[in-house]
Amino acid sequence: MSSPHAALLAPSLLAGDHANLGASAHTVADHGLNWLHLDLMDGHFVPNLSFGPETLAALRRAGSKLFFDTHLMLSAPQHYVDAFAKAGANLISIHIEAACDHLATLRRIRELGCQAGIVLNPGTPATAIAGLLDQVDLVLVMTVQPGFGGQPFRRDMLPKLQQIDTWRRERALSFRLEVDGGIDLATAAECRTAGADTFVAGTSFFRAGDKPAFIRTLHGL
Ligand code: DX5
Ligand code: ZN
Repeated sequence: MSSPHAALLAPSLLAGDHANLGASAHTVADHGLNWLHLDLMDGHFVPNLSFGPETLAALRRAGSKLFFDTHLMLSAPQHYVDAFAKAGANLISIHIEAACDHLATLRRIRELGCQAGIVLNPGTPATAIAGLLDQVDLVLVMTVQPGFGGQPFRRDMLPKLQQIDTWRRERALSFRLEVDGGIDLATAAECRTAGADTFVAGTSFFRAGDKPAFIRTLHGL
C-alpha cells in the first residue's frame, strides 16, 4: 500500500433516511466527518433512481457545509455536470462506461470549479482509464455492480486497486483512490492494503451502533 492520502470515510447518503436526507447529512457532519458521497442514478445506466441536483441544492440551503462527493451513475453525465456544480457539488465523478467524451467532460467539471473523478464498474479493466489518470483528482473503483446499496463486497476488485495504485506511484500522481460498495471495517482494511484511501460506506456507516468507534477505526487504517 503506498497511497499518499490518509484513510478518509465518505458516508453514502443512499443508505440514509430518504424521508429526511437533511437529518442524515447532519449525522455525518455531527460526527466530525467532511465528505458526503451522493449516488445519482438515472434508471438507465443503472436500474434504479435516487436523487437529483435539487437534493444537493436543498442540503446546501439547509446549511450543509459537507464536501459533496457526487457519483454520477448516468448514461449522459455531460448533460448534468453544470447543474450539479451549480447545485453545490464539490467533486463530480463520471463512469468510463458512459457514452461521452470523458476528457472533455472531466475538463468541464474542473472548469466549473469542482474536482473531477472517473469511475470503473467491476467488469471494466483498469486499462480503460490508464490514459485519464493525469486528468483526475479521484479514481473510484466500484466494489459492487452499481445501482443498489447493501450488496456484498467484490474481493476480485483488489488486483485492480493494486494496479491503479502502482500506476499512481510510478507516474508520481496524487489522485485519491476510492472504493464504493460493500465497504465495512474488514473490507476497508483489505482495500487499504491494496492502495485505496477513500472509502464510501453506506449501510455499514448508517447501521453502525458505535459511529465514533467505526470512524476512528476506519481513519486509523
Ligand atoms: C451502488 C452505490 C452503493 C452505495 C454504498 O451504486 O454506490 O455502493 O454507495 O453501498 P453500501 O450500502 O454497500 O455501502
Ligand atoms: Zn457511489
